[in-house]
Amino acid sequence: MKPYSDRRARLLAQMEPGSVAVIGTAPEVARNADSEYPYRHDSSFYYLTGFTEPQAVLVLVAPRGSAAAQSILFCREKHLESEIWDGYRYGPDAAREAFGFDFAFPIGALDEHMVRQLSNASALYAAAARSADASAQQQRWLEGVRKLSRSGITAPPVLRDLPPLVDEMRLFKDEQERAIMLRAGQISAGAHARAMRCARPGVHEYELEAELLHEFRRNGAQFPAYTPIVASGPNACVLHYNANNRQVQDGELVLIDAGCELDGYASDITRTFPVNGRFSSAQRELYELVLAAQQAAFAAIAPGRKYHDAHDAAVRMLAQGMLDFGLLQGTLDDVLAEKKYTQFYMHGTGHWIGMDVHDVGVYRDTARDDKPSRLLQPGMALTVEPGIYVRPAAGVPEQYWNIGIRIEDDVIVSDGGFQLLTGGAPKTVAEIEALMK
Ligand code: GLY
Ligand code: MN
Ligand code: MN
Repeated sequence: MKPYSDRRARLLAQMEPGSVAVIGTAPEVARNADSEYPYRHDSSFYYLTGFTEPQAVLVLVAPRGSAAAQSILFCREKHLESEIWDGYRYGPDAAREAFGFDFAFPIGALDEHMVRQLSNASALYAAAARSADASAQQQRWLEGVRKLSRSGITAPPVLRDLPPLVDEMRLFKDEQERAIMLRAGQISAGAHARAMRCARPGVHEYELEAELLHEFRRNGAQFPAYTPIVASGPNACVLHYNANNRQVQDGELVLIDAGCELDGYASDITRTFPVNGRFSSAQRELYELVLAAQQAAFAAIAPGRKYHDAHDAAVRMLAQGMLDFGLLQGTLDDVLAEKKYTQFYMHGTGHWIGMDVHDVGVYRDTARDDKPSRLLQPGMALTVEPGIYVRPAAGVPEQYWNIGIRIEDDVIVSDGGFQLLTGGAPKTVAEIEALMK
């Protein structure tokens, strides 16, 4: 539990003396009658607690004068009948002990406690305007405090947005997080290899999806980190395709974008391969181009480089290839300046990754007027995912029509450059063709 208590201490150290922070976990959500979506905790709540039960709230009280800092958990009470139906719950006493909180109370005591806790507090840190329910609840607490004003009690004069503080902490992955993310990357890489092995003309996209899910789960991953994309033929040009119900035809490519979530951490891999195990020459030309774009992006990832350098490097490589293969006409400068490449490459080359697949953390230095790209530092985790998507259109060489390719890996910036988390998934033409033989 030490990583979690260390994080609480680091957050407390950033708070104003005598202030209070409150962060709840995610709600349970009904899918339909008597059936709920699989429960997934709130990432930032989990980051600070390690606690995965629903109906839980963390309250942090920053020290002031002789008053020490406090970490307080509110959670479900023990309840024999509920536990017979739905399983074990810690209850406040065991949770306090197991997770290292200073105090723990039943969730039903939260409102009353918060009125007391916010009396004379210097500030309240909470997620501003993230949900109507949470905002209404905070207002009720503050109203409760104001009612005590005749006794000389004051409500916190300052409300602060809590997520930016936690997000910036989450952006830098510690050793324990890096180990989990590496394992998640290994499991997902194995799943991609498994799908390639099971592919053959006539297979349905959902059969390949089933292989991915099987490999995730048999290795202990709790969920897919996002809905898998298994996109064959023209579907590969639909960026967020996930119907996954088409039968793959001989000669087509399959684009799979899938990663597992392991112990609260996402992985995010895309591989594109020929369903019959051999790239056609047009497929190979564009595939090698995307691979070269990814290499160019990798070369731009190191401490001190701008976050956006990797995207710029990938775009330059892709744009030159689009000219070389006759997808675009003109000069490289013109294609870049006019962003003509967006006809075939219309998304960014990556994003932060961590507890959320599109993880928290700002990409630009928002304190400066010109909002420059922030610089990479060790511990930041990001994806590198160039692609090319050729929809049929006048003037576009027909041999490339309906080819959609993306190659995506996850990396963590390290002292010397970066650590590749997802290298276990076959990627070169030779590796893919050898595996599928
Ligand atoms: N799978 C989501 C993404 O690649 O961003
Ligand atoms: Mn991604
Ligand atoms: Mn992806």
